[in-house]
Amino acid sequence: MTYLLIYCKVSNVNNAGDFHLKLEENFPIVPPGWYYVCHISQLRSAPIVHKVHKSEYLLWKDEDNIYVSDARCPHMNADLSKGKISKSSITCPYHGFKFDKGICVHTPNSEDVPSWANIKTYPVKNICGHIFFFNNTEALFDFPFFINEFIEEFTASSSFSFEGEINWYTLASHAFDLNHFRSVHERELLSDITINSKMPYQRANTYTAKVIGTSLREKLIQLVAGKEINMTIDTYGANLFLLNGKFSNGVTSYFILNSTPLDDNNCKLSGIVFSKKTNKIKSLFQPLIMAVRRHFTYKYLEEEARTLHGTHFNLGTTYTEDTPIIEYFKWLQGHEGFKIKQSKDNS
Ligand code: FES
Ligand SMILES: [Fe+2]
Repeated sequence: MTYLLIYCKVSNVNNAGDFHLKLEENFPIVPPGWYYVCHISQLRSAPIVHKVHKSEYLLWKDEDNIYVSDARCPHMNADLSKGKISKSSITCPYHGFKFDKGICVHTPNSEDVPSWANIKTYPVKNICGHIFFFNNTEALFDFPFFINEFIEEFTASSSFSFEGEINWYTLASHAFDLNHFRSVHERELLSDITINSKMPYQRANTYTAKVIGTSLREKLIQLVAGKEINMTIDTYGANLFLLNGKFSNGVTSYFILNSTPLDDNNCKLSGIVFSKKTNKIKSLFQPLIMAVRRHFTYKYLEEEARTLHGTHFNLGTTYTEDTPIIEYFKWLQGHEGFKIKQSKDNS
C-alpha cells in the first residue's frame, strides 16, 4: 500500500464531511504502538514497573534478554514486581504461581494449573541502548529507523522527557498541521507538503521551509546549520515520530519523539537525538555536539508544549487548513487497533 498526496493548495474541504463521529468515542484510549521506557543502563535484574495510562508493565533483564510482561498476577492481582525473578521467570509474591515467558509453569501444592493462569508478554526493542516495547502481545509493525539509514552506524543521546497537557491524537496531529509549522515553529513553507505512506501504520510528511525565527536559538541554527531545511516527519502508529532534517549547510538532524498517554488529557513525551558515528578525532567532540543538539531540541519542544497546553483537536471546528489532519485521522482509522466502532447512527 503506497500512495502519495501533495497539498499544493488545500481547498474544497471546510469540514469533516461524513467523518463526523466523535474522536473521543472512537479512537482507543491508548493507541497500539511502540512505547519508550528508559535507557538499558536503568534496567536491572530486579523488575521495574512502567505505566501507560492505567496499564502496568513489568520490565527486567538478564545477561542476554530483556523481558516485558503484565505487572499484575492473574490470580488476585498481586504486584509481580515484588516477586522473585530467575532469568525469564517470575514467581508471584502472594501465592507463589510461577510464570515463565508468560506461561504458568508451577502452582504450589497443586498439580492443577488453571487455564487462566498466564500473563501477557510483549515485544521489546533496544534502539542504540534505549528500550521500547509494543503494547500488544504481537507488534503490529516493526520498530522503524530513519529512511535509507542503518542503525549500526548511529549513536544516541540520553533521552529527555516532559509532560504536556494534550491527548495523544491531538499531539499526533501536529505532524500534519501545516499552520502550526508557520506560527509555532517559525518556518516559512517554501514547497508544497508531500504526504506518503509506504506501508501500513507509516505515514510521512515532507516539506521544505525557511528558518525565520529571531530567537537566539533560531539565529544559531541559521548560522550553524543553514537558513533552509528539508524536513521529513515520519509517523508510525500514532505515538512514534522519526524526524529527519536536512539543512542547507549540509547538517542533518535525526530525532525520535515518542508519546505515552498518562490519562485522557495528558501525555508524556520522550525524545532522543541520534547522530552518525564519526571518525576518531571528530568523535572526541561528538558527545558535546550531541548534548547541544539534545538541549536545543528539548527547549524547542518543551516551549511548544507549554505554549499549547490544553489544546484539543475538535472535528466540529475545523477549517480548510486542517484537511491534512482529517485525512490523517481517516487513514489511521483504517488500521487494526484504530478502527471505528460502529455506532447506532452509523450502522
Ligand atoms: S495473587 Fe499471584 S498467585 Fe495469588
Ligand atoms: Fe510542533
